[in-house]
Amino acid sequence: MPATEFDAIVLGAGAAGMMCAAVAGQRGRRVLLLDHADQVGKKILISGGGRCNFTNIHTAPDRFLSANPHFAKSALARYTPADFIALVERYGIAYHEKTLGQLFCDGSAKQIVAMLLDECAKGGVDVRCGQPVGAVEHGDGRFRVRFGSADFAAPNLVIATGGPSIPKMGASGFAYDLARQFGLKVVEPRPALVPLTLGGDDVLFRELSGVATPVEARAGKAAFREAALFTHKGLSGPAILQISSYWRHGEPLAIDFQPDAAPGWLLAAKRDRPRATLRAALGAILPDRLAETLADRIALPGELAAQTDRNLADAEARLRRWSFRPNGTEGFAKAEVTAGGISTAGLSSQTMMAKSVANLYAVGEAVDVTGWLGGYNFQWAWASGVAAGKVI
Ligand code: FDA
Repeated sequence: MPATEFDAIVLGAGAAGMMCAAVAGQRGRRVLLLDHADQVGKKILISGGGRCNFTNIHTAPDRFLSANPHFAKSALARYTPADFIALVERYGIAYHEKTLGQLFCDGSAKQIVAMLLDECAKGGVDVRCGQPVGAVEHGDGRFRVRFGSADFAAPNLVIATGGPSIPKMGASGFAYDLARQFGLKVVEPRPALVPLTLGGDDVLFRELSGVATPVEARAGKAAFREAALFTHKGLSGPAILQISSYWRHGEPLAIDFQPDAAPGWLLAAKRDRPRATLRAALGAILPDRLAETLADRIALPGELAAQTDRNLADAEARLRRWSFRPNGTEGFAKAEVTAGGISTAGLSSQTMMAKSVANLYAVGEAVDVTGWLGGYNFQWAWASGVAAGKVI
């Protein structure tokens, strides 16, 4: 059967794919957007607790991880949070800043998906879902894609099928297989923005499941000051999710349990409340159960007055740099994103086109660019999708 012809085929109708298809379609290109899921934009729908944290006003290249930290600069500079906010405002979607520059819909993430579908419709994009993408072939300057039992062909192909985080939502490693098929390299994918698990001695901290506290979490040079949450498997909460993207298996993680306390606060407590125990002093700044567990671990029994200044200084230093050695993560099943992916070394940072295969593009999470928690990953999806959409 002859293949139906388009100017461009975009594989994956998620954030990056829909944006890319809409931009290309509105330039007058005939675009086909394909997805194996029964519905477009499933991750957008569940994002931000159903309200979609669609961008971050503090977007800057240093908030993204990649083997090449410069790669994201070009696309991010050419399609900014202000550009996406302008689009959201054109659609009359109400939004608010929750915290740390994170913008969420007041209503529902469904509004963002409806907006992107409308943008696709304005560009005459042919959107098709719910069939498996089969063989992808390349020859005579055209890409040929099998979708269900139909064949489509186009001179441009965009890989926008995301990464393997949350497989039960239709996420897959398809982007990597396709990239390898065309000779592109893939930086080892790993779960990121993911809860960490504890074993060994640290397993005792699991007893604190449900306790949350502000901390500063550090791994190497990266540090995040936000809430941490103890879980029945280990550690979660925004500070931990953020640091998980920087943490590598086998490495320790340092937690400052008193990020807001003035240096020397424990010695000051000895002067001000000599009769208090360490447990009571900790209880003044930390949740009760955590104070008890940390005081037990530090083991300085009796009143503060009975402790040497040296011991109290050591205790404070330990509380400022409590070292955990996570034994793993909760894996792709719980990871908000995938770090690693299609190597940026083989892509143009201007257009997202493969350097070695003309008119093959990769955008969004499929690429080795991973944002911090808080709307950065969608901003990358929009920006990289637009970069390719403008040239296909
Ligand atoms: P995305 O995953 O959105 O889309 C890929 C598409 O390809 C999907 O529609 C999928 O069905 C399709 N596909 C996959 N394999 C295929 C195959 N073999 N054949 C055909 N189609 C295939 N980010 C953020 O900035 N703010 C937030 O609030 C959140 N919240 C959030 C919550 C949760 C629970 C998760 C899991 C993730 C987030 N994220 C987020 C991250 C964000 O969702 C993610 O970075 C973007 O959706 C990535 O966009 P892409 O378009 O690259 O992939």
